[in-house]
Amino acid sequence: MPPYAFFRKKYMPLAEAKIGVMTHALHYGTACFEGIRGNWNADDQQLYAFRCREHYSRLLKSCRILKIDLPYSADELCDMTAELVRRSGYREDVYIRPLAYKSSEAFGVRLHDLEDDFLIIVTTFGPYLDVSKGIRCATSSWRRISDNMIPPRAKICGLYVNNAFAKTEAIDSGFAEAIMLTANDHVSEGSGENIFLVTDGKLLTPPSTDAILIGITRETVIELAKNELGIDTVERHIDRSELYTADECFMTGTAAHVTPVVEIDNRKIGDGGVGRLTKQLQELYFDIEVGRNKKYLSWCTSVYPTK
Ligand SMILES: Cc1ncc(COP(=O)(O)O)c(C=O)c1O
Repeated sequence: MPPYAFFRKKYMPLAEAKIGVMTHALHYGTACFEGIRGNWNADDQQLYAFRCREHYSRLLKSCRILKIDLPYSADELCDMTAELVRRSGYREDVYIRPLAYKSSEAFGVRLHDLEDDFLIIVTTFGPYLDVSKGIRCATSSWRRISDNMIPPRAKICGLYVNNAFAKTEAIDSGFAEAIMLTANDHVSEGSGENIFLVTDGKLLTPPSTDAILIGITRETVIELAKNELGIDTVERHIDRSELYTADECFMTGTAAHVTPVVEIDNRKIGDGGVGRLTKQLQELYFDIEVGRNKKYLSWCTSVYPTK
């Protein structure tokens, strides 16, 4: 079966879904997107879209910020996504990319007086970062863009140039991922992940007002730490040097799952291995996102009919 896209209000083969070179979003970054994982569970013969509703609720918020009219509810968008994945016939892990964008073929920097459109693409997707051994990170020389420049709580395409600068600088310098700081020198996030520290038995993460994307994996981990391990997460400003003295560090994201960070700026974190709490949260998360832990099955949208 060829992969399908949802494009211009229709399901069509991905190869036929094309936009014009004058499309506003292409020139000015006036679009917003989501990244959703669909996880194949061979025992259940089911593909589970993880936290689909939460991703679409966030997309609807991004659209409000960007003045994009997306005429569907989160539930309708989940149904459309399931339909698209079914039509494409995937029976393996997939990545789902919805995109709402300013679709007018017109020049001029603005958000008003433009048409909006919406598409969904689905593709196969493997590992993104090394979840087993952990990764080496570097503090970026690129500052995180702040809320009054382009709001990072919205997943706005143009904003991701800031992330791309940071990611490529890290890779060019031999690290796997960047850690960006805010204009006020606080730890913000990675180029595609939120960050957590374990310090003296406490779980810490930057607050939602420190120029982060309020990650769905972040929310999931906060909930799992509380419900399953009895650990509250403290959301507060984090200084750069606190990264170096943490006992454990990990990053969270749809692509990254729960990725241990074993070194930052050439300093070992803890003993330089995967931390105990990191491992526990990682194992819980892996089971839940693939629909193995039935207690959390409500977070998984079944793509194929359930038996
Ligand atoms: C900049 C940024 N921060 C954090 C995240 C993690 O968010 P989520 O857990 O919702 O995937 C992402 C990924 O979408 C991201 O792009």
